[in-house]
Amino acid sequence: MTDGPAHWNGVYAARGETELTWYEEQPVLSYELAAKYAKPGEAVIDIGGGAARLVDRLVAGGHGPVTVLDISEAALRISRDRLGESGAGVTWVAADVRTWVPPRRYALWHDRAVFHFLTEARDRAAYVAAMDRALAPGGAAIIATFDADGPETCSGLPVARYAPEDLARALEDLAPGRFRPLESRRHVHETPKGRHQAFQVSVFTKDKD
Ligand SMILES: C[S@@+](CC[C@H](N)C(=O)[O-])C[C@H]1O[C@@H](n2cnc3c(N)ncnc32)[C@H](O)[C@@H]1O
Repeated sequence: MTDGPAHWNGVYAARGETELTWYEEQPVLSYELAAKYAKPGEAVIDIGGGAARLVDRLVAGGHGPVTVLDISEAALRISRDRLGESGAGVTWVAADVRTWVPPRRYALWHDRAVFHFLTEARDRAAYVAAMDRALAPGGAAIIATFDADGPETCSGLPVARYAPEDLARALEDLAPGRFRPLESRRHVHETPKGRHQAFQVSVFTKDKD
């Protein structure tokens, strides 16, 4: 499960952006990989982008068009307000990725810490179906989850943890032959309170429709 908008709006209302356990002042690895797999001018979507600062880096780096999708309108408002005029070209979508119907194709799908909330098989299937519809042939998907030794919960919700090979197998089971692993990295995130959380960040490509 991932819980609905009320849960997530409550999370963003209860604490400042910089106090959230997943807060990153500089989304260094996300941006490094996004810039590697999407050229400026290619459409990028940050799934569950929330209040994350990847959009700031993408816009500043001349990437995009950029879309940020999140189940929480409150989270999107934080990013929209922070960017101000510089975010004028960003598309903000308040939607649940499990039911969202992509209106266009994207060269890059980025997800940091959303897929791991999908502990039900039907939710993972809906997510992968949306990713398949959204990604252009030749496009890439960057999916960051808690690694096998990462936390068992986040934001009061249970998560599914994945080593890179577990995530590759999960995608292969849900969409056989659709997503080919390209690379994966380990990243240890330091929370604002100084705790360490192990993530894996995997990149997949979709070769064809
Ligand atoms: C742990 S936070 C990570 C936020 C952001 N990716 C980052 O790195 O800062 C998870 C985010 O996913 C969003 N989310 C959770 N379930 C979702 C769903 N089913 N569809 C879209 N967004 C979702 C939450 O509102 C929240 O912003």
